[in-house]
Amino acid sequence: MGLAVDVVKHTCRSSGDDEMWHGMNQSLAIAASDHDEGSLQAARGFMTAFDMPKLNTFGQAFRNYDAESERQAGVEAFYRQNHIQQTFSFVQQMRSKHLQLNKTVMSIWDCCELLNQFVDESDPDLDEPQIEHLLQTAEAIRKDHPDEDWFHLTGLIHDLGKVLLHPTFGAEPQYSVVGDTFPVGCAFDPAIVHAEYFRDNPDSQNVLYNSKLGIYKEGCGLDNVMMSWGHDEYMYQVMKSNNTTLPPQALFIVRYHSFYSLHRSGAYTHLLNDSDHQMLPWLKEFNKYDLYSKSKVRADVEKLKPYYLSLIHKYFPNELHW
Ligand SMILES: [Fe+2]
Ligand SMILES: [Fe+2]
Repeated sequence: MGLAVDVVKHTCRSSGDDEMWHGMNQSLAIAASDHDEGSLQAARGFMTAFDMPKLNTFGQAFRNYDAESERQAGVEAFYRQNHIQQTFSFVQQMRSKHLQLNKTVMSIWDCCELLNQFVDESDPDLDEPQIEHLLQTAEAIRKDHPDEDWFHLTGLIHDLGKVLLHPTFGAEPQYSVVGDTFPVGCAFDPAIVHAEYFRDNPDSQNVLYNSKLGIYKEGCGLDNVMMSWGHDEYMYQVMKSNNTTLPPQALFIVRYHSFYSLHRSGAYTHLLNDSDHQMLPWLKEFNKYDLYSKSKVRADVEKLKPYYLSLIHKYFPNELHW
């Protein structure tokens, strides 16, 4: 772990978070670990020329949950917190707190720069400023899908909801910003990473919420499903409320990119409607870049900035409410 990155981390967390922070990046989803790259590729209809690096920034295989490292304990601690705290009622509280979008006004690029102060604790593959990850993701997509400029911009903005960690938004704890997301209001699927920790989530004992369908109807559509609170849902709402002209698949990608139990393990498909099924291949295509662009290839921010500013101008207002 580089010294510079450590300094960034130490300046943007509360002092009580030390054990939680320490080694936090080990691994995101066991849900992902049982899919090797061959089966991932076979599962995707439109794999193209993107060159997947074999190792992440720590020299380990991507999303490696079994490797013994200092990060593992931290990631487990993170998911224990996340799975216990994310109840249906917690999600409702966070929605009423943040979806008024009355915290600040800023442009998309300003938000990229604000986010650059943070590194995602829950991510086993990434230990660098977020702007690098955003540009790496966007550029990897651009290489394979040169004509889909909306897809490039989706890569750039997909994690901007992580600004919830910033004091402007109340410096939300990591368990309510990052990590895999999942539906609340129905039973937690065993395919969710570290699902064992859900036994201590009060909703697991609530008969309203602990059956397969819970409060939902078969095929009701993800639009009608309450997801655990995090940067995905927040950024989706920011995009929608600020009238982005990005296409529906961009909104779907941003909203569900951390829903690994669905897009990697096929859980919760009984909740999907036809429109969700049509969107799912885009989500799977996107995830390949989100995951495998976290490599040591550095992005030249100043060189790339004019292109992405032009896309931001095309698809967003100059200033957005957050
Ligand atoms: Fe994300
Ligand atoms: Fe990401």
